[in-house]
Amino acid sequence: MIELELRGFRILPGYLGAGRQAALVAALRDIVAQAPLFAPVTPSGKAMSVRMTSAGRFGWVPGPSGYRYAEAHPQGQAWPAIPDAVLNIWRDLVSDARDPDCCLLNYYGEGARMGLHQDRDEADFSWPVLSVSLGDEGLLRVGNTARGGSTVSHWLRSGDVVVMGGAARLTYHGVDRIRFGSSTLLPKGGRINLTCRVVE
Ligand code: SIN
Ligand code: FE2
Repeated sequence: MIELELRGFRILPGYLGAGRQAALVAALRDIVAQAPLFAPVTPSGKAMSVRMTSAGRFGWVPGPSGYRYAEAHPQGQAWPAIPDAVLNIWRDLVSDARDPDCCLLNYYGEGARMGLHQDRDEADFSWPVLSVSLGDEGLLRVGNTARGGSTVSHWLRSGDVVVMGGAARLTYHGVDRIRFGSSTLLPKGGRINLTCRVVE
């Protein structure tokens, strides 16, 4: 399998073939049925353009009091379990010593994006963040471990997996835009990104 390296991010293009992508989407439908996507608002009060939900012991929930991990969906129910189809990727590429506590699901509809940020609400940065892309292509931007400086960009396609760990665990990253309608995986179009993290 081809592997790319982008500022310490390990990129595995086409890690998931068509069959595994479709199986994953089916499993994610069950998650969204139990824990509906919601429109998050940042602590500073800005509406995010992605819609979001989670699976696992913890979900990641932005809100007025800050970015935090919560044991319940905003509607009150526990988060659904992380599907085996996701855990298998983690066990293959990250570790079979422990499973992630959280699988965050971000849905990018037409025009959605995500600004440059660090993933830094977890207790132990020795665990990488595993990212899985499904559906429409998304333009990943990668910066530096401190704010500012030059950036590089890379189009992520459906089935691509990224491991953000080691010296790049706190590297700034974001998604500038998607190419809406570039994939037929999701019937209504758009892009799903899953990120799995060890939280505690
Ligand atoms: C994220 O950093 O949370 C999302 C990255 C992506 O959508 O590829
Ligand atoms: Fe992130």
